[in-house]
Amino acid sequence: MTHDSRLPPRDRFKGYYATPRAPWDIGRPQRAFVEAGKAIGRRVIDIGCGTGDLALWLAEQGRTVTGVDFLQKPLEAARRKAAEQGSAVNFLQMDAVAVGEIPERFDAVTDCGLFHVFDDAGRAAYVGALTRLLEPGARLFLLCFSDAEPGEHGPRRVSERELREAFATGWEVETIKPASFEVVPGIPGAEFGPGGARAWFAVIRRA
Ligand SMILES: C[S@@+](CC[C@H](N)C(=O)[O-])C[C@H]1O[C@@H](n2cnc3c(N)ncnc32)[C@H](O)[C@@H]1O
Repeated sequence: MTHDSRLPPRDRFKGYYATPRAPWDIGRPQRAFVEAGKAIGRRVIDIGCGTGDLALWLAEQGRTVTGVDFLQKPLEAARRKAAEQGSAVNFLQMDAVAVGEIPERFDAVTDCGLFHVFDDAGRAAYVGALTRLLEPGARLFLLCFSDAEPGEHGPRRVSERELREAFATGWEVETIKPASFEVVPGIPGAEFGPGGARAWFAVIRRA
């Protein structure tokens, strides 16, 4: 029952992190972010950072990075990896809808697999928090499941139109491109086509 999509997100994610490996935890950053590369600014906050591979990779590339997740367990793994690598990523336990209260300034937000977790009300609260967090000119780099992914297994599907609507006020959508969400092959929860699930990679600028 731990992977039951009817459970509240916090319980669902606790269930995934109680297994040996969550399906999205591929041990490296998703390809879409690696390809975005230098476009991702210098001071970055990775929201819904999980066990930290994207945040740690960004730091390795010379960025100053904060990672945020609402669960202790993945953050423990992230902090362990940071200690092993001698990385200075600052990992914080907090809810994404509270990031608007962080006083620090960031050039970029990375969101790898968080936006598609929210229901409509949660999505509006999250976008509101991002709107408060970022100053004009800062960018959001977002990878989410796409409505091109068939079936209902896995997270909520998001359409390009929904993305545009969510960021209609106070933001400018620069690009939304088809991408893929890589998963750990052969484990429960990772039953998608070769190359992973269909996704959108969006770059959205705070106006
Ligand atoms: C699909 S996982 C992706 C993790 C990581 N970004 C990656 O790509 O490996 C989504 C992550 O978001 C976290 N999360 C979900 N809802 C959250 C919320 N409201 N606030 C903070 N973190 C949240 C979960 O605990 C989980 O680690």
